[in-house]
Amino acid sequence: MAPASSSLRLGVNIDHVATVRNARGGAFPDPVRAALLAAEAGADGITAHLREDRRHITDDDIARLSAGLAIPLNLEMAATAEMLAIALRHRPHAACIVPEKREERTTEGGLDAAGQSAALAPIVAALRDAGVRVSLFIEPDPRQIEAALQLGAPVVELHTGRYAELDGEARARELRRLADAAALAAKNAIEVHAGHGLTYDNVAAVAAIPQLRELNIGHFLVGEAIFVGLDASVRRMRDAMESAR
Ligand code: PXP
Repeated sequence: MAPASSSLRLGVNIDHVATVRNARGGAFPDPVRAALLAAEAGADGITAHLREDRRHITDDDIARLSAGLAIPLNLEMAATAEMLAIALRHRPHAACIVPEKREERTTEGGLDAAGQSAALAPIVAALRDAGVRVSLFIEPDPRQIEAALQLGAPVVELHTGRYAELDGEARARELRRLADAAALAAKNAIEVHAGHGLTYDNVAAVAAIPQLRELNIGHFLVGEAIFVGLDASVRRMRDAMESAR
């Protein structure tokens, strides 16, 4: 039997509201206001990436999101001592560990959980001990799922960026990799999320992967909000996800 549609949550990433704000400095538009609006429109959670260079979300945004949200906050963070200290201070509902390079425009690939397990282990353990649900943002690769299992991460988020960029047969192959990875993770009792580069047009095939429990979507929703408003863009994405289940 297909899972109930409500079993696929939508996490709205509000980083790029902060990108627009920071283009001019000052306080407008406020990502916290966007988060509250997204929640009203049906978002199940809010995701924000506090990058090392603070190019969009700031420490103050994380403090205000932590204080003001009635829905779960998912903090995306690099595996550094500084970010761990911030996460432990705010204890968000969830933390998603992502690779981060200063010069990249956005997160360009998954975390090498297999190659960096020694560095990741204490960070995953400290977050878990603090009651934060840890996820690892990884490529849909069995080696990375095995590493997540060894690290004791309860959640993986599969990187859909490559799927989103490809067409035709190459996209279909990447979709199969995502589906296989989701099945393998779920078989090992790891909760499976996905995200990056998802739009109205490409979300359905990903949302149809039955093991997925959450999608995290940002850039497209914030961009589309320029034309239709954030409420409408979030609602339409939720509809697209639900029709695919
Ligand atoms: N998930 C993770 C781990 C990410 O790093 C990002 C981008 O910040 C997203 C999801 C959302 O990607 P997009 O903004 O392309 O929807």
